[in-house]
Amino acid sequence: MKANDGIYLLGIESSCDETAAAICHDGKIISNIIATQAIHQQYGGVVPELASRAHMQNIVPVISQAIHQAGIELNQLSGVAFTQSPGLIGALLVGTGFAKSLALSLNLPLIPVHHMQAHVLSNLIEKEDMPFPFLCLTVSGGHTQIVVCRSPLDMHVIGETLDDAAGEAFDKSAKLLGLPYPGGPLIDQFAQEGDPLRFHFPEPQMEGLDFSFSGVKTSILYFLQKMTKENPSFVQDNLADLCASIQHCIVGILMKKVKKASLETGIRTICMAGGVSANKGLRKALVENGQKYHWDVHIPSFAYCTDNAAMIALTGYHKFLAGERAPLSITASARATW
Ligand code: KG4
Ligand code: ZN
Repeated sequence: MKANDGIYLLGIESSCDETAAAICHDGKIISNIIATQAIHQQYGGVVPELASRAHMQNIVPVISQAIHQAGIELNQLSGVAFTQSPGLIGALLVGTGFAKSLALSLNLPLIPVHHMQAHVLSNLIEKEDMPFPFLCLTVSGGHTQIVVCRSPLDMHVIGETLDDAAGEAFDKSAKLLGLPYPGGPLIDQFAQEGDPLRFHFPEPQMEGLDFSFSGVKTSILYFLQKMTKENPSFVQDNLADLCASIQHCIVGILMKKVKKASLETGIRTICMAGGVSANKGLRKALVENGQKYHWDVHIPSFAYCTDNAAMIALTGYHKFLAGERAPLSITASARATW
């Protein structure tokens, strides 16, 4: 028998290299479990086939733990939400297949979630009274977007990258410096001790709200080739300044577009999501600009910035309330529009 004590939504995330499950109870996250796949580190990037296999191994224990941590029984669930798109297709299929089986066996509604929309709503996890509309800068290893969010289920992209994502720009720059994958956190760490104005890397001249990072990467490559020809230990001798200058450049590109987006939309509540929002330079720049331009800035805790299932469960909850349901014939999609 189902306990009549509110809505319990299970959220499942498996779009890339994190297997995650969370329970949302009436809009509050009451459990949040994540299994990170360390296996990819040695390959310098996520290997799709290995990700799918690791999801297969992790998904049952991760979901069991999420149910256990929430202190509920499976028969108390009101629905199953899962990341349906976008992501690595093999990885997505593991979560999708599991969600469908569970929904079928327990006779529960099935709720597909768009991973990027969930990143935006991760800002509501710790701030239920978030004022709408807000702008969200979503910066991860795969995406860079500015989104206008007018209500939990009404959002649209007003700017995005035309080539590399911000996280890729960090990781690829780190690779050029000989740092291991993922290099973003290492650039952040070394940048603490460096001079951000020591080296200048040109920002792309992009009209509108879209981003481009491939030119930055190329200019860093040519600069390092030239300098190491003159001094083979140039990178080692200047690592902190190089990291600080690269970070300064990437953060500058991001902030310029956020300012423009705020000016054009008139929206002054600015949020952030995605793994790159852990970057200290970016967080500082957003807070400082917030003071300067009178923005109300919100940055979620790190656990909700990176890929997680809490954001999937919460998005699923809002969709559940709106009556969104998917048939059992639904399948995963690597690419997706909003
Ligand atoms: O959102 P996320 O955990 O995974 C997806 O890409 O979906 O983001 C990972 C990205 C990687 O590119 C990683 O290098 C970057 O976020 N990242 C950082 C920092 N922490 C993670 N980049 C710069 N500074 C950081 N502190
Ligand atoms: Zn993500």
